[in-house]
Amino acid sequence: MSTELDQELSRLAGAWHHDHLLDLESLSAEDITVLLDTAEHLLARFNQAGRKLDLLTGRTVANLFFENSTRTRNSFSLAAKRLGADTVEFAASGSSVAKGETFIDTAKTIEAMGAGAVVVRHSTPGTSHLLAEHLNCPVLNAGDGPHEHPTQGLLDILTIRQHRKQISGLTIALVGDIAHSRTARSNIFGLQKLGAHVIVCGPATLVSKQWETLGIEVAHNLDDVLPRCDVLNLLRIQFERQATRPFPSVREYALLYAMDARRMQRAKDDILIMAPGPINRGVEITPEVADGPHSVILQQVSNGIAVRMAGLWLLLERTLPN
Ligand code: NCD
Repeated sequence: MSTELDQELSRLAGAWHHDHLLDLESLSAEDITVLLDTAEHLLARFNQAGRKLDLLTGRTVANLFFENSTRTRNSFSLAAKRLGADTVEFAASGSSVAKGETFIDTAKTIEAMGAGAVVVRHSTPGTSHLLAEHLNCPVLNAGDGPHEHPTQGLLDILTIRQHRKQISGLTIALVGDIAHSRTARSNIFGLQKLGAHVIVCGPATLVSKQWETLGIEVAHNLDDVLPRCDVLNLLRIQFERQATRPFPSVREYALLYAMDARRMQRAKDDILIMAPGPINRGVEITPEVADGPHSVILQQVSNGIAVRMAGLWLLLERTLPN
């Protein structure tokens, strides 16, 4: 284990001052940079060790998922395990929630079993903030309805930074269902703080002019903005969060907004194609683009583990006895 890395990790821990990781809106550019740098360092340390680290040995991380998840849930679990922590996996179905137990009582029960940190995903906005008020341990938001998904924002930003060195000055378009996307909101807050020019692009029913009040660009025509973009982040249409269908047909959406081989010809030569996943092939992205040379979608997944290691370690490290 290298001393240089150790010194860097203690410097990063000293620069981190938050008890929870609930959103990117309330973090500063410095906080976000600390998280990204910690992710890079923990990843380097894990790769160097070639086995799981012992930074959180004896600690327990509870995953409380009240909504479906493949990537985020497994990623938080792996992140905890790579730091040496144990995990408790909670799924709402099959639990006492089905017997009428409240959300807060469920979380308090898990905390009483010794969880040192709670990771929570819920369909209601604000649930992670609510838990942070009621629990004594750090809370990490793994997605609260359409509100925020801070670790998704961080992993997206880390992936861009690995390719472009810095975020400042880049033009990054978030395409698709901005209205219902927690990923969009976390990306917007994080990218803006780091100095990127953010475009939100999609049908008017999913991309309101209101976004301009945040100082970002609103576009409804992908072909118009495409040649200016350094990065495209293609967001899934969140049908499960919509009361009515916001466009006439999925086929029409794909014609106007799907990133396909024809559109790639009009993009910058070094454009990065991203998607938080799950992807709907043929709707927001076609297979040849999703699996093509510009796609960094699987790198995003790998980086997800690194940023979650960073969040867990920075928060739990503060609660360790000296
Ligand atoms: C995102 C989510 O759940 O918000 N997915 C994820 O965490 N990887 C985006 C989505 O579901 O479309």
